[in-house]
Amino acid sequence: MANGPVKVGMIGSQFQADIQVVSFQSAPYEAEVVAVASPTPGNAAEFAKRHNIPRVFTDYREMLKERDIEMVCICAPNALHAQMTKDIAAAGKHVVCEKPLAMTVAEGEEMIAAAKRHGVLLMYGEELFFTPKYLKAKEMADAGAFGKIHLVKQSEKHFGPHSPWFWDINRSGGGALMDLGCHGIAFCYWFLGRPPIKSVYCQMGTYVHGDKTKAEDESLCILEFANGAMGLVEDSWARRGGMDDRIEVFGSEGVTYANLHMGNALPTYSENGYGYAVEKAPTTKGWTYPVFEELWNYGTPQELIHFARCARGKETPQATGEDGLVVMHALYAAYRSAGEGRKISLPYQVPAGVTKPIDLWLDGSVRRQAAQR
Ligand SMILES: NC(=O)c1ccc[n+]([C@@H]2O[C@H](COP(=O)([O-])OP(=O)(O)OC[C@H]3O[C@@H](n4cnc5c(N)ncnc54)[C@H](O)[C@@H]3O)[C@@H](O)[C@H]2O)c1
Repeated sequence: MANGPVKVGMIGSQFQADIQVVSFQSAPYEAEVVAVASPTPGNAAEFAKRHNIPRVFTDYREMLKERDIEMVCICAPNALHAQMTKDIAAAGKHVVCEKPLAMTVAEGEEMIAAAKRHGVLLMYGEELFFTPKYLKAKEMADAGAFGKIHLVKQSEKHFGPHSPWFWDINRSGGGALMDLGCHGIAFCYWFLGRPPIKSVYCQMGTYVHGDKTKAEDESLCILEFANGAMGLVEDSWARRGGMDDRIEVFGSEGVTYANLHMGNALPTYSENGYGYAVEKAPTTKGWTYPVFEELWNYGTPQELIHFARCARGKETPQATGEDGLVVMHALYAAYRSAGEGRKISLPYQVPAGVTKPIDLWLDGSVRRQAAQR
């Protein structure tokens, strides 16, 4: 086994790639990003210059030929995750795949099988498993602080994504639920100790962004778990005022609330504005809530340092392709539920020929009836 920091290749050079590289660079003794691959001319080179990354590729397959690279991170649009994972695994390198795992359940299964076949790890980019405040809530819950947990809520909201492909359902697979709800579903599942999800009820709509997407910009999703607990996952691309991410946990003996950003922010008033408040905040003038150590509060450095240590066999992955696959199953059931206007039991068999979760809402009877009224 190699010594020194794990050598990492990065696919993608924009939003999440930036966060990942900065996260890795917080632990240079554990990991070193040695290459970046991104197809838009100039982007990878500019990214490499900014982050001091020595090797630059426009085709990720060329990067996979670099023998010393041990782990590759996928920070590319959702529709590319499956093929990239299979290519990385075939090259004998560990995979870190950003959320959501894939576009279809079948793709997710192929990704897991490919990693197993080639003897590499498939680690799933769910940083909420590493978010310090949420981890603290789980530690307390696991220690019995709240008695028997019967309800876990997670919500993530902002005014819509930063990059055009998210709005294109063929590249994203869905809107706020696919993009943000994958976090909430994974969170409730993980928080409760990974009990099977029994059923999903979901309602969604496109309220403010219908001019640029067919995707939903609001969704409410109720999960029923085999241990009797409920999860409530609220997501929005229609919420003004920057990123909002919070949880609530209710048990027979107690309760805890965590607001990821506001609780750690500095209530601030400024006539002049200043550099940066928080992800997706539209202004820094007037009353704002700047966060400090934003990435650490999200848990991304902790997550990626853990993955690097897993690549060396020092730790066992805490967020895996299997977790991502559970989320995919729930997402398909959720979109079907929103389409049909009823609770869907799991396991849910996705009809043949469906290539993305949102199809099950767009094709659904509830939506058709609403349009006919
Ligand atoms: N964990 C989180 O909280 C979080 C946050 C944001 C994004 N993400 C996920 O990360 C992934 C990337 O999202 P983003 O926000 O960085 O998007 P982005 O649009 O900012 O960046 C996408 C990158 O993918 C690259 N790309 C596109 N086609 C490619 C190809 N064929 N080969 C190699 N690279 C290609 C683009 O050039 C670009 O650099 C998505 O799956 C998204 O859901 C996760």
